[in-house]
Amino acid sequence: MSVRRPLIAGNWKMYGRKADLAEIRATAAMLGDRAGALDVLFCLPAPLLPLGVEAGMGLDVALGGQDCDVSLADAAKTGDVSAAMLADVGAQYVILGHSERRAGHGETNELVAAKAEAALAAGLQPIICVGETKAQREAGDAEAVVAGQVTASLPKADGLVSVAYEPVWAIGGDRTPTLEEIEAVHRAVRGALEARYGEAAAAVRILYGGSVNPKNAGEIFAVEGVDGALVGRASLKSADFGALILAHPKISA
Ligand code: PGA
Repeated sequence: MSVRRPLIAGNWKMYGRKADLAEIRATAAMLGDRAGALDVLFCLPAPLLPLGVEAGMGLDVALGGQDCDVSLADAAKTGDVSAAMLADVGAQYVILGHSERRAGHGETNELVAAKAEAALAAGLQPIICVGETKAQREAGDAEAVVAGQVTASLPKADGLVSVAYEPVWAIGGDRTPTLEEIEAVHRAVRGALEARYGEAAAAVRILYGGSVNPKNAGEIFAVEGVDGALVGRASLKSADFGALILAHPKISA
């Protein structure tokens, strides 16, 4: 198990209404005191974020966004949300470069790096997402592709980031890589981080994401080099998310 403090992040994507914010308190209630042993994070759709921060007050949970603009300053950009705005309403993290944004919004590594720069400038911790396609995995290129994405997506400025390894083909389905495959990619990501940050890379958490659920979470968390998870569907309901978090070897009974 990793020496880093685990981070388990829920990615609500474009799901959720005000009423669903009760899941935050319900998840915290399932964890009780054990929540203090790891970082639990809810990354909400922008309209819910300030309300989520309120819902999380006094609980051992953090709130985050799912994307931000590259601009450091306020700007005439209709429909966009800046990192400073996320921070202003109480976000501490922001997911960047999720494959749904890379694929659906044409986000490149360079854009993700620039967004990460903006996030750090606003005091947010970026969670930079990377992951290979099915074709890249089948061609035996997963580690090289992912390490390359990491290197090209890191911000130029120093500052604490996290990385989420999410194989594109494992998101939203029911397949995950084998534990050996997860370990190999995490090792490759760690290598890319060390090349960029040197010793400071030791502070960077590498999460696994893609079809993590309460059943498979325990064995994934136990993989060498896995510092937590980025969770989609199983983060929407406290019964799932709480159970998944409780499967972490650091707090499981
Ligand atoms: P999933 O999504 O857990 O529903 O597969 C993960 C993600 O896309 O972050």
